[in-house]
Parts: sequence; C-alpha cells; structure tokens
Amino acid sequence: MGSLAAISPIHSSTILVMTELLETEEKQHRRIRSFVLRQGRLTKGQERALEMGWPQFGINYSEHLLDLDQIFGRAESGKILEIGFGMGESTAKIAQTLPDYDFLAVEVHTPGVGSLLKLIQEQVLTNIRIIQHDVVEVLQHMLPDNSLDGVHIFFPDPWHKKRHHKRRLIQAEFIKLLCCKLKSGAYIHVATDWQEYAEWVFEVLTAELQLKNTAKDYAEKPSYRPLTKFESRGIKLGHGVWDLVFVRK
Ligand SMILES: C[S@@+](CC[C@H](N)C(=O)[O-])C[C@H]1O[C@@H](n2cnc3c(N)ncnc32)[C@H](O)[C@@H]1O
Repeated sequence: MGSLAAISPIHSSTILVMTELLETEEKQHRRIRSFVLRQGRLTKGQERALEMGWPQFGINYSEHLLDLDQIFGRAESGKILEIGFGMGESTAKIAQTLPDYDFLAVEVHTPGVGSLLKLIQEQVLTNIRIIQHDVVEVLQHMLPDNSLDGVHIFFPDPWHKKRHHKRRLIQAEFIKLLCCKLKSGAYIHVATDWQEYAEWVFEVLTAELQLKNTAKDYAEKPSYRPLTKFESRGIKLGHGVWDLVFVRK
C-alpha cells in the first residue's frame, strides 16, 4: 500500500471508498475480478487534469444505457471500446491517428484516468470519453447491444500463476457478453506479450462461434496500434508480442 498522506484528501478518500466497495462486493457476490485496485499516487498534473477534465470527458458509472452518438456529439463516427487503457498513451495516439473514430476508454486505476485526461487536454483531443469502472459492469449495464465497431484490449494482465487464471479478463463468458455489444463485422483486437496468455486468448476467441479469426492464427500488428516503450524494450530483448484480431460474423 502506498502512503495515503501523499494523495490529496479528496482523491485518497475516493480511492479508499472504491476499494472498500469493491472488496465488499467481491465478498458478497463472490464475483472474481480481473484487477486489484492499487493505491496509486496521483501526480499534481494528474490531479489537476482530473479536476479540469472529468466534467467534460468523464462519464460517471450508472446502470443506465448510454447513447454513444449523443455522448460523442456525432453519429457518423465508428465507436471503439478500449478496455484497461493503463496510462492512456496508446489511447491518445490512436485517437489522434483515427479522428473519424470515437473511443470509449474504460479503466479502474485513478492515476491512469488522470494521465489520459492530461493527454486529452494537452493534445486537444475531442474523440475520447472515459469511464472509471469495472468493464464487466459497464458492458452489462451501460452499453447497448450492437453498438460497437471495435474493441481494443492491449496487454491485459496475464495473471501468470495457475491459481490466478480465474482472474483473467478474457474468459468465454466475458467474450460472449462482449459479442452482444459488437455490430456485425466489428472487431476484437487483443495484444499480449505473454505467450501462454496468447494461446489462452486464441482458444477462447476461436471457441466463440459468433467470431471469425481475420488471420490463420495470430495477426500482423495493425498499423494503428503504437509500440509502447515497454514493448520496444521487450522486442530488443527478443521477447514476442502476439496480436489477435477476430470479427463478429
Ligand atoms: C497490464 S495493464 C495494460 C495497460 C495498457 N493497456 C497498456 O498497454 O499499457 C492492464 C490494465 O487493465 C486494467 N483492468 C483490468 N481489469 C479491468 C476491468 N475489469 N475493467 C477495467 N479495467 C481493467 C488494469 O487496471 C490495468 O491498468
């Protein structure tokens, strides 16, 4: 646990309440989550970005269906969901590269939300909105069926140990839920640097009858996905990265 004294009173209490709520819920409903909330420290810049940017670019979690055209202020754009954006560097780069698409970015980690809000404001990006919540519940309660043109899941936590595999985000049930939200022809793009997780994701996506692989097995890295610093370092050390791109039939 990091020192709470280093975080502003507003954010430290928000983080504490969120952690307690999630832990109580997990105990009550025994639903296994794909993340553990860390007591991340907010930089001053992230804190400012949260205060200034959340009212414009944040969407509070609620159990009401979203109207994606309305929240982005346009109907003609493609709508992409990004799950677990981390610090948001890739999200911001992709949103800049693809101005005809709108990005609904979901993450639970507060410093990550602050970091992406900072990038949005610095780069004057208009095609990103953020929800800070468990994506499983966002899919269950907020996203209409047949509403998405694509889903990005970049470097999801691999949960290496066998006893933690149940925490992996990508599971048959989760993919079925995700498929309901995809339009016909829409894609799911997963990237991972953990070979055993790549094989797991390949099996789960292949077993879902609503999906079709766009490649024989793993896909070439689509050009819109930027190389992260971490990934470039890994590639130099000879580590692999696997991209999987499947479409809804
Ligand atoms: C290993 S990080 C990868 C971050 C980023 N995509 C990247 O490529 O650097 C995985 C992220 O997914 C987030 N995450 C995991 N499960 C999630 C869930 N159920 N809902 C929302 N975010 C989740 C975690 O908080 C974490 O930031």
